[in-house]
Amino acid sequence: MKEQVEKLKSEVLQKIESAKDLKEVNDLRVEYLGKKGPINELTSHMRELDAKGKKEFGMVLNDLKQTVTAALDEKKNAFETAELNAKLQSEKIDVTLPATKIPVGAPNILEKIIEEVEEVFMSMGYDVVDGPEIEEDKYNFEMLNIPKGHPARDAQDTFYIEDESILLRSQTSPVQVRTMLAAGGKEPVRMICPGKTYRRDADDATHSHQFMQIEGLLVDKNIRLSDLKGTFDVIAKKLFGEDCVTRFRPSYYQFTEPSVETDISCFVCKGKGCPLCKNTGWITVSGAGMVHPNVLRGCGYDPKEWSGFAFGFGAERLAMLKYGINDIRTFYQTDLRESATFDRKDV
Ligand code: DAH
Repeated sequence: MKEQVEKLKSEVLQKIESAKDLKEVNDLRVEYLGKKGPINELTSHMRELDAKGKKEFGMVLNDLKQTVTAALDEKKNAFETAELNAKLQSEKIDVTLPATKIPVGAPNILEKIIEEVEEVFMSMGYDVVDGPEIEEDKYNFEMLNIPKGHPARDAQDTFYIEDESILLRSQTSPVQVRTMLAAGGKEPVRMICPGKTYRRDADDATHSHQFMQIEGLLVDKNIRLSDLKGTFDVIAKKLFGEDCVTRFRPSYYQFTEPSVETDISCFVCKGKGCPLCKNTGWITVSGAGMVHPNVLRGCGYDPKEWSGFAFGFGAERLAMLKYGINDIRTFYQTDLRESATFDRKDV
């Protein structure tokens, strides 16, 4: 029987040696080490032997099994290593090849400016709120102290929807009213509202039928014009640099009293005079004022107890000034070289 074992051993080892691939190795493992294989078959002869013979033959069979298993494993490893090497070789990366360009997006300049303004105001405790673009006459005009027939309604040539009670908002100021009404005349208010507005303007370099405003409102007790001045000063310095100087000029809005135009010193010439500031040294950036008592009262705030200030920036105007863009239509066309923040080192 020992001879038989030896014969089997050399036969298997030879077959393993000449196996051509992993599959053949696996087949041989099943064929020789499997339940119905010749090694198992030899084991069944143990029964015919005495104790001593059993022991000896057991050792021989064990040795056979181990040798065959080791040879199969070795061959299997060799194939696997070769396969891996071939794979590594075929997938080798040539690091000297030029990289494929991955297209990367960049925010629209307008979006970026609005985010910047939001951040500054949020750092001062303001909420960023939203309001409807399809608005009621009541909020866009009436409650802002602009009654029917008021000439200011002409100044804001409005897109009306159906009749004159529903319109595309011509300013973000109605959000002031909505916010105060929601606060119910009892809570202080601190909000800004960036949003789209619409007017029946013919589009040219400085006018667009659709544009963005950033409205702001603060209502509390003992709020004065000097608070507006201080707030505006902080905002202007954060947006346009620490050396920015601000000034107020008297103006007129129906929903504020007194009303002002807010100017910043020209950041290009630092106030000396240049084409951007039309040689005045100043640039107007928003309308503002103290909330009119009629507006406060209409929204449930007693003007004897409460006061507040409001302001409205034109977002495109801010962006045009800051990035030297001279046509408002740029923001609404699809030329990304102009309207996105690619390659603009200062954004
Ligand atoms: N709504 C004004 C406009 O569209 C801008 C404005 C001016 C808003 C003064 C205000 C303000 O809140 O107080 O021209």
